[in-house]
Amino acid sequence: MNEVLVTGGAGYIGSHVVQQLVTRGEHVVVVDNLSTGFREAVRGAELIVGNVGDVDLVSRVLATHTVDAVLHFAAHTVVPESVSDPLKYYGNNTCNTRNLLACCADAGVDKLIFSSTAAVYGVTASGIADEDTPTLPINPYGSSKLMSETMLRDHSATGAMRHVILRYFNVAGCDPQGRIGHSTPQATLLIKVACEHAVGKRASLSIFGTDYDTPDGTGIRDYIHVEDLAAAHLRSLDHLRAGGESLTLNCGYGHGYSVREVIDSVQRLGGRRLNVIELPRRAGDTPMLIARSTRLKQTLDWQPQYDDLDFIVGTALSWERQLARASARAVPVA
Ligand code: UD1
Repeated sequence: MNEVLVTGGAGYIGSHVVQQLVTRGEHVVVVDNLSTGFREAVRGAELIVGNVGDVDLVSRVLATHTVDAVLHFAAHTVVPESVSDPLKYYGNNTCNTRNLLACCADAGVDKLIFSSTAAVYGVTASGIADEDTPTLPINPYGSSKLMSETMLRDHSATGAMRHVILRYFNVAGCDPQGRIGHSTPQATLLIKVACEHAVGKRASLSIFGTDYDTPDGTGIRDYIHVEDLAAAHLRSLDHLRAGGESLTLNCGYGHGYSVREVIDSVQRLGGRRLNVIELPRRAGDTPMLIARSTRLKQTLDWQPQYDDLDFIVGTALSWERQLARASARAVPVA
């Protein structure tokens, strides 16, 4: 029996992938230290609480399970925090990935899918990135992921492993059936933050920059629904199991929306006007970042199911309402 090891499987993206894997009958073991993940988000899989950089723990997991492939999500992902505390990012994202690869090598695990990011591209001249666009990250988060990509390619070049590197663009939305969602506290991502404001968890929403050279002056991003992204992981796993070669693939829809378009959608679906504050540009932001994702579609025969901003926002909003109801219930009645 093949088992899949998912690191960071209790987190936002990892838990959606675990759910799809379990739904199709895979046996899944999750290693997650629950620093930003949630025990209840791991549905139908074994959860081992611990650090992915802990060589003894991961070696034990690989010795006691019949793991044929690893999906590696565990990472810190907050860009501004990576600027203020870079060593935390190089430690958790880069050094721990090195340890994980060493454990895989020792245990003979030869297939790995790696969560990378559009942040490896930095600021591109055209705002559109294909996989051959030069990688020039502008923050430690992007650098920490790019260093892991390099390690992985070098390791695979020895013949020890084949990999798929997935470079995520702006991941958003939640399980349309509302079983799991995006629960990370102190979120900074636009759709999450806007939905928190729509359900009354925040008093306002800031727009960081209204003077970009874009049609409405605000930043444009390629928002991809988390379920479509999760499906790309399952396709990657099938590709590697079928003997496919190592790949690096952008994960986005190939078109984008501005901050104002996102706000319009949240207002329309949330049924209330948001209190929007226009602020200067945020340091490190690029005007536009859109994926060229033809390689993903062609090599893995991936077809998006949820390429619709209102659908993405609708699922994010209903999850936020669930969280708000749960926290209201948790408040003791005086
Ligand atoms: C960044 C990273 C991405 C990473 C993600 C998670 C880059 C190029 N991208 O995405 O790889 O996975 O962070 O940390 O580094 N905005 C507002 N108000 C807000 C929040 C955001 O106006 O309150 C705007 C931003 O200026 C930007 C857009 O919304 O134009 C999206 O921002 P955000 O959701 O934070 O994601 P990125 O910074 O694009």
